[in-house]
Amino acid sequence: MRPFYVTTPIYYVNDKPHIGHAYSTVAADVLARYAKLRGRPTRFLTGTDEHGQKIEEKAKELGKDPQAFVDVMSPPFRDAFVELGCDFDDYIRTTEPRHEEKVQELWKILFAKGDIYLGDYEGWYSVADESFITETELKALDEVTRSKVVRVKEPSYFFKLSAYGDALLEFYEQNPTFVQPEGRFNEVKAFVKEGLRDLSVSRTSFTWGIPVPGDDAHVMFVWFDALTNYMSALGGPAKEGEAPLYDRFWPHGGSDDAQVVHIVGKDILRFHAVFWPAFLLAAGLQPPTQVFAHGWLTINGEKMSKRFGNFIPPGPLVEAFGADVVRYYLMREVGFGQDGDFAHKQVFARYHGELGNGLGNLLQRIVASILKNEFGGAVPAPTEIGDEERELVAVAEKSAAVAAHHLDLVAPHRALDAIFELVAAANRYVDRTAPWALAKAGDKERLATVCYHVLESLRWLSVMLAPFLPSKTADLRAQLGVSALTPEEAMDQWPKAGDFGGLPAGTLTAPAAPLFPRFDPKTEAEILEKLGANKPAEAAKPAKKEKKVEEKKDAPKAEAPKTDDKSEASAPIAFDDFVKVDLRVGLILEAEAVPKSDKLVRCQIDLGEEKPRQVLAGIRKHYDPEALVGKRVVVVANLAPRKMMGLESHGMILAASDTDHGLSVLGLEKEITPGTRVS
Ligand code: MSP
Repeated sequence: MRPFYVTTPIYYVNDKPHIGHAYSTVAADVLARYAKLRGRPTRFLTGTDEHGQKIEEKAKELGKDPQAFVDVMSPPFRDAFVELGCDFDDYIRTTEPRHEEKVQELWKILFAKGDIYLGDYEGWYSVADESFITETELKALDEVTRSKVVRVKEPSYFFKLSAYGDALLEFYEQNPTFVQPEGRFNEVKAFVKEGLRDLSVSRTSFTWGIPVPGDDAHVMFVWFDALTNYMSALGGPAKEGEAPLYDRFWPHGGSDDAQVVHIVGKDILRFHAVFWPAFLLAAGLQPPTQVFAHGWLTINGEKMSKRFGNFIPPGPLVEAFGADVVRYYLMREVGFGQDGDFAHKQVFARYHGELGNGLGNLLQRIVASILKNEFGGAVPAPTEIGDEERELVAVAEKSAAVAAHHLDLVAPHRALDAIFELVAAANRYVDRTAPWALAKAGDKERLATVCYHVLESLRWLSVMLAPFLPSKTADLRAQLGVSALTPEEAMDQWPKAGDFGGLPAGTLTAPAAPLFPRFDPKTEAEILEKLGANKPAEAAKPAKKEKKVEEKKDAPKAEAPKTDDKSEASAPIAFDDFVKVDLRVGLILEAEAVPKSDKLVRCQIDLGEEKPRQVLAGIRKHYDPEALVGKRVVVVANLAPRKMMGLESHGMILAASDTDHGLSVLGLEKEITPGTRVS
């Protein structure tokens, strides 16, 4: 089986772990657990990035020695990930000698090849991003980051990045899924095609870094140091036979090469998709197989920031919901690769709906009552199998195959969609076959078949959901009376077509407490309060804000659903349901700011009716009212009227927003007549 090596970014230790860090690490853990279940030799790496100016400055600010500072700051990351049920095989710290040695080795290889040379750097450096930036990039920065940018003029070693543009483009061509999602890959290619400049890879104005071999006045640029962690953790670069993990888990150009997937946030894609493969190609080493860039999470619709008071550490969430529920929510709520929102209330919704009513109930309905009363708790042998059973088995087989396909493609949210098809089908099967009625009627034979099919579906689910819910699925298996999963190499435990029926009749189940007990409304409210999730968004707003944040936080929720992240998770609706929403082309005739509101604009819109309609839209932060006049927009025309700031609104203007662009109302390319139906 092809070895699988998955990594997370290594986290800066200038601050504490938050839910964004948890996101990358949980995703990598899900992929690693899945690969292990498929019987693949698997390695999962995470760790901390401990050098650089940002960390040196923070340590200084606190009056601490940088090493003592990072020694205190790194363990909370490890602990947070363990608490989240992440089962990593290695945790690397860039201040470890095993890492420093290998980074220097890679440097020496590049230096010996003439790809690193000494020069002078003059330009801007963003300490917040630990990144050299151009004049154009400087202008595009938000106020806060810009205020931290410094002018640098110092001797510096450069990496000949400019010489590797063609090699990179060729590599991309040969590896069409090197960067995912595809849209991000296009951005990377466009960046490289524009032409690359040599990259400054050392600094002399501070000392907290790995010394440049043979020139102690320089420390390495923190990204050169950090990116190499993926290789140093395996003991590479190394000659064949010197480092078994490196031999096994890093690609070397052979047909049975390991598959290496770097999970990263979209903000650090360029480092991973341009600089890192360029260093490796230059050194004559094989780049990783794939860099997967995930999106950014907002919290209850707001950008996460300490200044907003919504900087969410994972610990209290785990305490409130349990690690599995947090993991499940993170993987389920947001399409992996897209931006999304972490909304506390939505965690409860998914908990009660999908986990409690969907999965937990299925177990409860059969094991806790019928099986105990009718079969003494032992799994009965199925008797005659009919269409209903065949249908359920077909759903199970499809669900396992589709979920595996999506996990192979790093689409955990889609895998969960597929897995929950089986949860839904099994619940429907119970509803249709009505086992309680069979029990009442004394039809033990049919009841045996029904119970068996539900229990076997649950056993399949206990495997397929194990990467997401490792602890709950262990409880589920214990209740089913089957042994715990022990992911072992060369043992493919993922269910497949033909496997249905693997649960031995006679297995003694062990009913226990519900897997997902309900939170009563009072407890739910208390938890939300404790987690600070009830804070009105206004309270969390900073006095002075960054441009993007301003765009994001003012996005009116009803008018700008985050379609980019939610669309994939929503259940399909019938066409008949869709047509109930009366969407019309509207022409904005008048628009004025609503006094005393910093959000609302009052619009008079021609919808082809006798009189223009008054519609209030929360878009003032994104549009000058005057600029809206004459625009054609899409309006939900049959929305019940609602009052805002004492004014009635008779409809809703559709808009979309994302972190990168802010909010945009939906427009039309042609001058379609006002009132025309949109379908
Ligand atoms: N140290 C570098 C990575 C070096 S990898 C060789 C770094 N560290 S970081 O701590 O600032 O960020 C680590 C990861 O957390 C990034 O992938 C970043 O995208 C992710 N996130 C930080 N905030 C986030 C959200 N709000 N949402 C999702 N992920 C976010 O960059």
